[in-house]
Amino acid sequence: MYNYQKTNRYFAQAADDIKDIAEEELLSFGAQKTSQAYRGIYFSANTKELYTINFHSCLINRVLAPLISFDCPSDELLYKRALQVNWEDFLHPSKTFAVFASVTNSSINHSKFASLRLKDAIVDYFRNRTGKRPSIDTREPDVWFNLHIENNEATISLDTSGGSLHRRGYRKQSIQAPMVETLAAAIINYSGWDGKSSLYDPFCGSGTLLCEAYMFASKTPASIFRKKFGFERLPDFNISLWKKIKEDAVEKIKPVKKGTITGSDISPDAVKASITNCKVIEKDNVIEIENKDVFDIDKIDGSTIICNPPYGIRIGKTDNLGDFYKRFGDFLKQRCKNSTAFIYFGDRKFIKNIGLKPSWKKPLSNGGLDGRLVKYELY
Ligand SMILES: C[S@@+](CC[C@H](N)C(=O)[O-])C[C@H]1O[C@@H](n2cnc3c(N)ncnc32)[C@H](O)[C@@H]1O
Repeated sequence: MYNYQKTNRYFAQAADDIKDIAEEELLSFGAQKTSQAYRGIYFSANTKELYTINFHSCLINRVLAPLISFDCPSDELLYKRALQVNWEDFLHPSKTFAVFASVTNSSINHSKFASLRLKDAIVDYFRNRTGKRPSIDTREPDVWFNLHIENNEATISLDTSGGSLHRRGYRKQSIQAPMVETLAAAIINYSGWDGKSSLYDPFCGSGTLLCEAYMFASKTPASIFRKKFGFERLPDFNISLWKKIKEDAVEKIKPVKKGTITGSDISPDAVKASITNCKVIEKDNVIEIENKDVFDIDKIDGSTIICNPPYGIRIGKTDNLGDFYKRFGDFLKQRCKNSTAFIYFGDRKFIKNIGLKPSWKKPLSNGGLDGRLVKYELY
């Protein structure tokens, strides 16, 4: 029996600054005994909950199922102990795999070296038995293994998501500086938008916030387009349970009224990209997208405005982002009556230029950038 089978404990990797809502999300899918840790959350779940979390979560990056844990003071011991695992429980020599590793406060102090030793053990295991070996594929392997060594204790896990869940599969076209899907989902979550009233993104770019808003409003599972999950590689994979979870979820998808979600952008390329991406998730064109300079918008009344204005990239003749944010603040004040705005600042130095009193500010990083989500009530 592997550890996850004995304990029903898993680890959900999530960005540190959204762990509060990621934990709530896990609990809403039936997870129990959650406990926050560095870069993620430990939780207990049964098989149904594990599959459901992987299919529906829009905030977590992946769920790891621990297979074995052992004392690991040296790379020889790592190699020897890894050779004792029945790797054919998860992998066939004709398949591909990848190992990602992290090490903290241990004799093995290079994660690349640690992952190499585990890869060697897996390859040698098959080669010794069958004369054939599985290949390594670090982009889209059939199976992802995780190795974590902390204080000389190693844990080998299988990634039950099968690659990061932020890759939803709808981003067919991109632009410069698109937002990470899990961050966009977190922003929708923090806004408290109800999924029914109108939502407007006047800097929609490739449409990430629009797509995440639509998925939330329609109750579309975040990973509906994912072709395979890592849990399908577990020895106790229950295919009929998985089919049932998928069917039940698809039945619960509900229509979203045209005009609920609207976006615009000054760049024709961005508009093209967001139309293409939104078409992947909804065929009825209920998400309305226009090519428009934000300053040409007449008014946005009584809406939830959620957006990610440009930061640090050229925006036109003047390139003066300070003035740009001041004008945008005036636009919000004068033309967005009775709306609530949630502005994501990729660079927080522009918050002061907006000239509006924030209701709250929340630190949220975007690919290493120290951004802020700021709420403004507009009267
Ligand atoms: C940081 S990007 C938004 C990224 C978007 N959230 C995504 O995930 O793809 C900022 C966007 O603002 C647009 N933009 C810049 N100036 C604008 C203006 N005056 N009016 C409307 N859109 C503008 C850019 O074309 C760009 O697509």
